[in-house]
Amino acid sequence: MTGGLPIYFDWSATSMKKPHQVKTAVIHAMEHMASAARGSYGPGLNAGRVIFQCRLAVKTFFNGTELRHVIFTKHVTEAINIFLKGFLRSGDHVITTIQDHNAVLRPLHDLKERGVHYSVLSADEWGRVKLTELDQVVQKETRAVVLNHGSNVTGNLIDLAAVGEWCRDRGIIFVVDAAQSAGYVPIDMIANNIDVICFTGHKGLYGPQGSGGFILGEKFDVQEQVDGSVIDLSAQIRPLMSGGSGIHSFLETMPEALPDRLEPGTANVPALAGLKAGIDYLNMRGIDAMFDQATELAYHFYHKVKALPGVHFYGDYESYDNSSSAADCGYERLPLVTFNIGKVDAATVAQELWRKAQICVRPGSHCAPLIHRHFKTEDQGMVRFSFSHFNTLAETERAVSVLGEICDEYL
Ligand SMILES: Cc1ncc(COP(=O)(O)O)c(C=O)c1O
Repeated sequence: MTGGLPIYFDWSATSMKKPHQVKTAVIHAMEHMASAARGSYGPGLNAGRVIFQCRLAVKTFFNGTELRHVIFTKHVTEAINIFLKGFLRSGDHVITTIQDHNAVLRPLHDLKERGVHYSVLSADEWGRVKLTELDQVVQKETRAVVLNHGSNVTGNLIDLAAVGEWCRDRGIIFVVDAAQSAGYVPIDMIANNIDVICFTGHKGLYGPQGSGGFILGEKFDVQEQVDGSVIDLSAQIRPLMSGGSGIHSFLETMPEALPDRLEPGTANVPALAGLKAGIDYLNMRGIDAMFDQATELAYHFYHKVKALPGVHFYGDYESYDNSSSAADCGYERLPLVTFNIGKVDAATVAQELWRKAQICVRPGSHCAPLIHRHFKTEDQGMVRFSFSHFNTLAETERAVSVLGEICDEYL
């Protein structure tokens, strides 16, 4: 992105630049695909086929177990709402964290009216969630732990394996909001004992906006008991919405079978075609390599900006501080850097970056009120630079230089 085009450092909000394969797939779907499950003519069957392929790609990507347990939604927000509001019951207790997004906090707040209550794990001075508090807040009514894997504010990552094991040992459902980490960090549902993974298609998965969903893990597969009876936990998820499904039209309720029960209305076929192409792209490039490239830039940016006057960072940068090169950092944090310059309003810094050099960054509160309160940045906000392998060193250097000018002018 050079030659007068915007320099984009807001990948945590959405991946503005898509691989060309994604654009081709979206256009192909718009030209050749009708509605799925609505007819047996070619373009309708094409739509059904691409949805099937996308379901398979998503299931494989996160190591899910059953194809019918991949549920598509418009975005992760809808996925989280459908699962939490469909599954939790009055009297249930939930544990979440201070780094969670409003996509989790607001549904949990809504659920208070229905008798669901929740506790929030706090953080240390670097914003690292205190997992040791799990043992202090757990109750006999605790039905789920719902957490944001990678903070869109600090870039800190939560140890999924540790929480997954803790939940498994207590029979608690483990729900992960992977909005930020999916596509950046490998996530294996089985290895980490994840029961529900919620994802959005338009960020690190490089799909279009309007794609997302959730996957139910092994615990939701039909379990046969020794006495021959079966337990199907997935049957307990009540649909949040109902409507056309293309099948069983004379039923007054949604069909029981998944994914149909939780996917009313016409599927967004172009978005799912694009999401499938985005995942194929990740598999082809390799997410390790892409993560390393983005981390290289974030690491470089962090060390350069650290040398500017009055800069204060938010998050755990221990891996960047203690490694002699980005290659040694590993999956310790997401490739994003969040900071403030003295007491300058974050929105002013973002505006100056745009005005001076058409640099796109995200200021403000990032829809994550609790972690902002923790850092006392409710008024000032924070400036967030988030990186992708699509960025270049020249763009990163340009941003550092403009930040230097802003420091000179405002401090
Ligand atoms: C951690 C986290 N969860 C949820 C969301 C919501 O994503 P969407 O708007 O795609 O539903 C975001 C978006 O920034 C996020 O960062």
